[in-house]
Amino acid sequence: MRPAGNAGAARPFVKWAGGKTQLLDALVERAPRDIDTYYETFLGGGAMFFRLLSDPDLAPKRAVLNDVNRDLVTVYEVVRDEVERLVDRLGRTAEGYLAADEDERARLFYEERGRRPEGRVDLAARFIFLNKTCFNGLYRVNRKGEFNVPHGRYRSPRILDEQGLRDASAALRDVEITCLDFEAALAAPRAGDFVYLDPPFEPLSKTSSFTGYTQGAFDRLEQRRLKWAVDDLTERSVCVMLSNSPQDYILGLYSADRGPYDGTRYRLSQTPARRAINPRGDRRGVIDELIVLNYPEGTERRSLESSTQA
Ligand SMILES: C[S@@+](CC[C@H](N)C(=O)[O-])C[C@H]1O[C@@H](n2cnc3c(N)ncnc32)[C@H](O)[C@@H]1O
Repeated sequence: MRPAGNAGAARPFVKWAGGKTQLLDALVERAPRDIDTYYETFLGGGAMFFRLLSDPDLAPKRAVLNDVNRDLVTVYEVVRDEVERLVDRLGRTAEGYLAADEDERARLFYEERGRRPEGRVDLAARFIFLNKTCFNGLYRVNRKGEFNVPHGRYRSPRILDEQGLRDASAALRDVEITCLDFEAALAAPRAGDFVYLDPPFEPLSKTSSFTGYTQGAFDRLEQRRLKWAVDDLTERSVCVMLSNSPQDYILGLYSADRGPYDGTRYRLSQTPARRAINPRGDRRGVIDELIVLNYPEGTERRSLESSTQA
């Protein structure tokens, strides 16, 4: 039996650095009108996917979600396929933690962090527990691939959101979830599909670098490799939206080629964004976000809205 859940009400169920919740209006209004298959290749918390699904006008017919983080992908698979077992398992961990005093909570957190999960449901429950109780909801691993974020000391973290998990399960029901490097994942889309790309950011400065979602860093070579993949998708008539920080290097990459948009190949715009997770609290605030599109104005959702209002 499928769990009771309302796919349209689903929201991200993990906190994720670079999560897009603040920016969604700006992204959604630039999304193409008719989405056949939707691809989100740097999934993280999946804010864009859940937002598209919440709007019957935008909900894609098919979706393929991808992230290179194997544990994160397993969590999505478990939420999709075994949500009741997950709710049960996570509920037991949450109960023990929430009933404990501060010192005991820290002990339970480090005990959980230090142990190896036994099976997929246990892995997903441990992942969500650590995500909700660690410092700032960060995900960072050491060289051995072990999660190493410290305890967060929140008074009453919402470790188990039963309905939220059931809604997410309903949203993921027919969704294909893959765990591939972006280049392999981007071989699949066809003309008429829509790809949203939210790669780890080019750091604003050396000290603000936060690209440690996986063991390898997402450096300039990776950004360039991604740009080549975007070129390839453009040649295959796949609609692409990419968000990144408006660093000179990234701006240079996407404005270098000649093409139909004011002489350049891609349409670039900037919009204010609040970064929820920043390693240095004092540098939180509003910073512009760069949005890169490879499809013309007129195919976007906002142009449909303005033509129906006219
Ligand atoms: C900025 S986060 C995405 C945030 C997401 N948009 C959200 O709403 O939470 C970037 C994601 O890219 C993933 N990633 C990093 N390198 C990758 C690669 N080579 N291929 C695919 N995914 C990768 C990371 O694991 C991380 O989840």
